[in-house]
Amino acid sequence: MTTSPLGNLHKEIAQLQATIESLGSIDALVEAEPFITGKRSVLSTMQKSLGALEPEARRDAGAQLQAARRQVEDWLARRREVLAGLARSAQLEADRLDLGDVVVSSVRWPASTGHASLVASTQRELEDVFVAMGFTVADGPEVESDWYNFEALNMPPAHPARGMWDTFYVELGEPETVVLRTHTSPTQIHLMESAVKNSTLPIHSVMPGRCFRRDTPDARHLATFHQIEGLVVDRGITFADLAGVIETFTRAYFGPDISSRLRPAYFPFTEPSAEFEVTCTICHGEGCRTCSHTGWIELGGCGVLDPAVLSAVGIDGDVWSGFAFGFGIDRCAQMRHQIADMRALVENDVRFLEQFS
Ligand code: PHE
Repeated sequence: MTTSPLGNLHKEIAQLQATIESLGSIDALVEAEPFITGKRSVLSTMQKSLGALEPEARRDAGAQLQAARRQVEDWLARRREVLAGLARSAQLEADRLDLGDVVVSSVRWPASTGHASLVASTQRELEDVFVAMGFTVADGPEVESDWYNFEALNMPPAHPARGMWDTFYVELGEPETVVLRTHTSPTQIHLMESAVKNSTLPIHSVMPGRCFRRDTPDARHLATFHQIEGLVVDRGITFADLAGVIETFTRAYFGPDISSRLRPAYFPFTEPSAEFEVTCTICHGEGCRTCSHTGWIELGGCGVLDPAVLSAVGIDGDVWSGFAFGFGIDRCAQMRHQIADMRALVENDVRFLEQFS
């Protein structure tokens, strides 16, 4: 009796199937592969033994073995896919960030939002005070021609008073013809020009905005700062109206504890002119470093409109008269909130900024 060179093929195949199903990882599969379908496998051993058979028997056994091998290879491929899928989900699981705790521990609620800077909120408060007194609010350009910043304000070229403002010039056109405005006074000129053009006199307006001076910053000065300009052009306006507006403003904005005073001064565009000062709130008038030991802080200047300014914009000075004032918004914030050094306004230290939210 001849035994089949393939022995008990079914049993061997069933064994291989069980082995394949038991493989737990791709690594294990790669390691087992030579013993399942490779050189060291039962299948290969059987293949070799076929050589000893008669041609006919060899053909039959060869076909059987071929079919068995395909079956085993198929199981192995499927097992490989299953194991690769498991490995992928294990990796995803390991990579997953558990955000549950993070959410609970680090999100502050209510979430903090930004707020207007102290200068911006001060500007709004000042506008509110003047709007309540019957003024409108207007805007003007930060880059001005020499005409608006100086000449129309009664300062012809080479006028010595131009030296009162250390000026940044813009490299545009003829040298020194375009400037970063050194004060908000040029906006007065724009307003008067348009009121003449549109026949909308009288004017009762305030004009807040950013100004620039070639100054070295110190406790009371910034090279970029803010002013609010006031302009009234009407019939029969006198210095008394100006003094009344300044006093009303001071009480409304600073409260009863702060006094103001007007001291004679000179500005080319007003006559008479005055400086507007308030009690230093850092030392309450005693004298300190911030007020240079005077007890007073200068907020700005004011005066009755010079007839030369009215005629520069074509307003009849026999019919109309007026006054103007201009003072520092940053200085107001400094005095109202007792900020010893104004440079804190632009240093962006959040510990400072957060106090004014
Ligand atoms: N523009 C002047 C300054 O910045 C202040 C001022 C405004 C004076 C209006 C008089 C009238 O110094």
